[in-house]
Amino acid sequence: MTAEADIARIPFEPPARPSHPPVPPPAVERPPVELTIDGRAVAVPAGSTILDACRAQGIDTPTLCYVENLTPVNVCRICVVEVAGSRTLVPACSRPAEAGMDVQTDSERVRLSRKMVLEFLGSSVDVSLAGPREPDGSIAAYAARYGADPSRYGDAAAPAAADERDARESGHHHPAAGEPTAATVSQPVKVDNELYVRDYSRCILCYKCVEACGVDAQNTFAIAVAGRGFDARISTEWNVGLPDSACVYCGNCIGVCPTGALMFRSEHEMRAAGTWDESAQTVTETICPYCGVGCALTLHVQDNSIVKVSSPMDSSVTDGHLCVKGRFGFEFVQNREG
Ligand code: SF4
Ligand code: SF4
Ligand code: FES
Repeated sequence: MTAEADIARIPFEPPARPSHPPVPPPAVERPPVELTIDGRAVAVPAGSTILDACRAQGIDTPTLCYVENLTPVNVCRICVVEVAGSRTLVPACSRPAEAGMDVQTDSERVRLSRKMVLEFLGSSVDVSLAGPREPDGSIAAYAARYGADPSRYGDAAAPAAADERDARESGHHHPAAGEPTAATVSQPVKVDNELYVRDYSRCILCYKCVEACGVDAQNTFAIAVAGRGFDARISTEWNVGLPDSACVYCGNCIGVCPTGALMFRSEHEMRAAGTWDESAQTVTETICPYCGVGCALTLHVQDNSIVKVSSPMDSSVTDGHLCVKGRFGFEFVQNREG
């Protein structure tokens, strides 16, 4: 056969495309899960957690280390509930609801456990701004509900000097003699860049920033937990300053920090000057202008200036996470020269 004949046998028309794109097999319908919460029979969609079930019933369950856009890590234990037959209290934020479960959300054991968590945190950390989702101070209402009194652990020990805690080896650091005091994580604020500050006197070690910097959002791994026990702290690799670390200043750690330990420098300075006033701020929803992804931005504006940028956690584009341009690249808006 000649080369011409070979060429003639090559199909001229490409094969017809299927008229419809392939569709995945239909999802298997799973029946709702039936359980009992505080004596009430409830049914929740399969895959729900106990926290989902509680919220569906309007039961206000405190959380600190849990947030919808991160993987639950179960470290704060403030959400614990009692499940019949379970030796220990279980974290509502991550424990799946199971058929036949008998859950108590307000038993004496639950109340005591939540009170202890709030007291330990309150005696060692500045939680004045802390809240379940954002630094809004709402933890105070839970402390009142559970009768938490952090002051019963004694006066706060003297704050650590700058960087002292970062160099600590694990162990017992209380003075052997003298008046007992409550150990704290108090230390000077770390200010080493123009964009955000780290006030680890407010850090409850909820791991949210580490998750946001890691596989849950940013995949940069600039920060991690260093040390153990009471000396555990959030640190960059080798404890270098942020400008010398792997940080890319996306600010996704700030976006998830529930205590104000990580804060826009603008907010930090306004709070220090006593000019931060959320009641005087407006909130504008817009779209980031920098690229075609179209991230949802929430601009927090005070005195006609943008003082903070966040993104809604329920945004299908961002899940609440941004890059450095969307989070911090707003100065040009306020350039009124020329
Ligand atoms: S700003 Fe971004 S890269 Fe830097 S520590 Fe925070 S999450 Fe990690
Ligand atoms: S800095 Fe904030 S987000 Fe990170 S562990 Fe501390 S409290 Fe949690
Ligand atoms: S919110 Fe459930 S363990 Fe922290």
